[in-house]
Amino acid sequence: MSIYLDNAATSHPKPPEVYAAVLDAMQHIGASPGRGSYGTALDASRLLFETREALAAFFNAADSSRIIFTSNATESLNLAVRGLLLPGDHVVTTSMEHNSLLRPLVMLQKDGIRLTIVPADAEGLVEPAAIRRALRPNTRLVALAHVSNVTGGIQAVAEIAEIARLAGALVLLDAAQSAGCLPIDMQVLGIDLLAAPGHKGLLGPQGTGLLAVAPGVKLRPLLAGGTGSSSDQDEQPDGFPEGFEAGTHNLPGIAGLKAGIKFLTAAGVDSVGARERGHGNYLRERLVGLSGCHLHGPRDQARRLGLFSLTVDALDPAALAFRLDREYGIAVRAGLHCAPRAHRTIGTYPAGTLRISPGWFTTPEELDRCYTALATIIQKGSP
Ligand code: ALA
Repeated sequence: MSIYLDNAATSHPKPPEVYAAVLDAMQHIGASPGRGSYGTALDASRLLFETREALAAFFNAADSSRIIFTSNATESLNLAVRGLLLPGDHVVTTSMEHNSLLRPLVMLQKDGIRLTIVPADAEGLVEPAAIRRALRPNTRLVALAHVSNVTGGIQAVAEIAEIARLAGALVLLDAAQSAGCLPIDMQVLGIDLLAAPGHKGLLGPQGTGLLAVAPGVKLRPLLAGGTGSSSDQDEQPDGFPEGFEAGTHNLPGIAGLKAGIKFLTAAGVDSVGARERGHGNYLRERLVGLSGCHLHGPRDQARRLGLFSLTVDALDPAALAFRLDREYGIAVRAGLHCAPRAHRTIGTYPAGTLRISPGWFTTPEELDRCYTALATIIQKGSP
């Protein structure tokens, strides 16, 4: 039996209810929402509405009509920064960002957006005071990942958001690794834009994501096309949510996402996060004793989620991942994890790291097998 420890890329398996919901939407709804007034089209619209409501409750977003469905967190982040920023605006971000945030920002620099990248420390944590020092009078946005996809390190989001608020800047939180694993209350934390995948911690299918936008934040749509509304107009409407969801929705995916949220709500995000953290800590504590094995990220357990990165002396992370797969059937991700600056920050560029990311369904036996496999490879060295 193979062992899946790449839940930071996408969670697997999903709860059985998620598979059932996808199939049910395809078999028993099968229509497009907002495009017809017959029964199944109305069922589709109801499903969208209920999922927006469930997501708004889950993240304590003030207005469920401002939850925009996307196909992944990358699309959500692109919509947020390209829909919000204008030439001359200044953005503050960090050296721990994934390319899904960094690349759209770098692209916008060509259009006159000013960008400051605040360096994190060697554990990958950003000092809130460093964010404060980077602010300028024209800072429009502070954009950062809640949890690093390389180290699992948790940034001090509440403090950073407060600093941004006092300076009159908006906050975009990339919750790619935290949504579903850490409680996120948009209103308490002061998050203006929350970007999340539906297919990682929220346990929905691949091809789902969301951008939650706080009241008062104005956004331009990324895509223009059919919205099922204002069809007499040539111009793209920019009302929430339809104006931001041109084209046919991923209804089966959204049905699965709704089931994922229901599962998480019943299990409790705190319990899910605690279980994943427990898995990460358990494996780290065993690996720490292996000679030549280096664990990266925050030493303080309270500043880490379940995923973590390691390197091994004289063993390339990609070769290590290859052997884990071929010899032991263990699926992990190696390399730069689409976050090259994060690796420069923690000193693991250019080879990157081996990343292990347990999930809700990971068992202690699987972690033991992963430890034994790693210990065997490390002690034997290169073949
Ligand atoms: N961003 C995802 C990862 O870190 C795909 O693997």
